[in-house]
Amino acid sequence: MPPDSAMSQEPDIHAVDGWTLHEFAEVTSTNSLAAHLPPWTAVRAVVQTAGRGRTGRHWVSDEDGLWFSAVLPTTGDTAPWSLLPLAAGWATLSVVRSLGLPEARLRWPNDILVGRRKLAGILVDRFSPGAAVVGIGLNVSNHPEKTEPVLSGEVACLADLVPTPPSFAALIIRLLAALTREHSRLESGDAAGLCRDLDDAWCHRKVQVTLAGGRGAIDGHMDGVDAAGALLMRDASGEVRVLPASRVELLREIFQT
Ligand code: BTN
Repeated sequence: MPPDSAMSQEPDIHAVDGWTLHEFAEVTSTNSLAAHLPPWTAVRAVVQTAGRGRTGRHWVSDEDGLWFSAVLPTTGDTAPWSLLPLAAGWATLSVVRSLGLPEARLRWPNDILVGRRKLAGILVDRFSPGAAVVGIGLNVSNHPEKTEPVLSGEVACLADLVPTPPSFAALIIRLLAALTREHSRLESGDAAGLCRDLDDAWCHRKVQVTLAGGRGAIDGHMDGVDAAGALLMRDASGEVRVLPASRVELLREIFQT
């Protein structure tokens, strides 16, 4: 999808801990808008009219959710930046857990779940080689299932999980700090540290992986990720398959009833 240059109005601009934050009432997609902005800039919108999810899906972005994108530099050695989608997931999860939700977890690659319900999703776009746009959608006190009834029972919102959700400003400050921390960790070459943290966040589950390109599906056990961020899947024979993100179309958790 081409970057979107259409701004419906002038943003409010604030400085936040080394970041410049642009706040809009309404945009198509904060990720598309952020494509034009330099590193260490973030964009928040009250409403997105064309919010984008992973694998080309639509992302419901109704009022009272946090719709937010941060532009991070990805210069120098390219290897660490393949881990950025996972690092962004861990950054977001660590903020969510710190709000009094220690049971929140990750579903590969970077969905934030509480129980079986999705609280937040992350879309990382690489519009140019020198920067990545990390888009975070977090349900705060909005109700996506009212817009799309099919989401009923599938989504969670912060206001139903913690007594008093922080303000949007406080959430943004925490998320930017966590993204800065994880960016530094990747830049310093500590992929192993990230993988250790992620290991605890997946809660190792039975999953079914649909392979990209119509190559079938594998049932097995999610054993975490390797140092390059590839998914490690142990199949029924005990063999561990190493699946880079490009080979995975969908990962579905299997729950025993
Ligand atoms: C997913 O789980 O499919 C990823 C959802 C990402 C949604 C966020 S909301 C802010 C940013 N702008 C977008 O258009 N998408 C991301």
